[in-house]
Amino acid sequence: MPDSMLKVRDVTKSFGGLVALAGVSMDVQRNTLTILIGPNGSGKTTLINLVTGVYKPDRGKILFDGTDITGLPPHEIFRLGVARTFQIPQPFRKLTVLENMLVVYPGNPGEGFLSALRRSGWRRFEEEAVERAFELLEFLKLDHLWNQEAEKLSGGQMKLLEVGRALMAGARLLIMDEPIAGVNPVLAHEIFKTLRKLRDEKNLTILTIEHRLDIALRYVDYVYVMAAGTMIASGRPEDVVSDRRVIDAYLGG
Ligand SMILES: Nc1ncnc2c1ncn2[C@@H]1O[C@H](COP(=O)(O)OP(=O)(O)O)[C@@H](O)[C@H]1O
Ligand SMILES: [Mg+2]
Repeated sequence: MPDSMLKVRDVTKSFGGLVALAGVSMDVQRNTLTILIGPNGSGKTTLINLVTGVYKPDRGKILFDGTDITGLPPHEIFRLGVARTFQIPQPFRKLTVLENMLVVYPGNPGEGFLSALRRSGWRRFEEEAVERAFELLEFLKLDHLWNQEAEKLSGGQMKLLEVGRALMAGARLLIMDEPIAGVNPVLAHEIFKTLRKLRDEKNLTILTIEHRLDIALRYVDYVYVMAAGTMIASGRPEDVVSDRRVIDAYLGG
């Protein structure tokens, strides 16, 4: 039985006279790795911008886990559990990997008067945060780098740290815009394998835009295809790649 975590219904968005999205609908099923593809300028990033609250749609509705999030500001959508990797504050270059994880942990008791009186509460919170951070770092195979400054990480490790910070912040739907752009093929495969593991073992739902279809399509459950501001096809990867409309959209430019 289909179980949509994210439902986009008939959204429209224009910039001045330019119609970037003309009535687009999309469903992201819970616990899937879903990919959004399409030629340059087809409206992929605009759609993601509507889902994450960067822009408000002119028309249409967006539901996350049954909650209407249409037009909510980005921080509220984030708080509900939708994280876009580059939306999370960039890792602090001079902080260590572990510190970068700890600073996004929600429920920080703060340095308020009461918590200053209750140091034991602080300690418990700290222990819990450190434990969670190490569990995630281990999962992402970054635990051996815990004391490394973020600026010393490779590009691929930095992307993994961004994913770790999204999880640390409590994300349930992770949205990524081209996670393997500019990454070497070996690491690109590793990143997609990690995304699948996150789906299977951390119960995460993932929506990603990607251009490198040769790599990405081997790993995803479901594909949405956009062209010129509309959704032209969707389905399993093997069906979508042989779809006439999709081939035409890519070849016709
Ligand atoms: N903030 C904006 N202002 C004006 N036009 C925009 C803006 N954002 C996107 N567009 C236009 O909307 C269309 C879709 O862009 P975009 O969503 O970035 O496509 P994609 O991510 O598929 O390459 C393009 O024609 C782009 O120029
Ligand atoms: Mg884009």
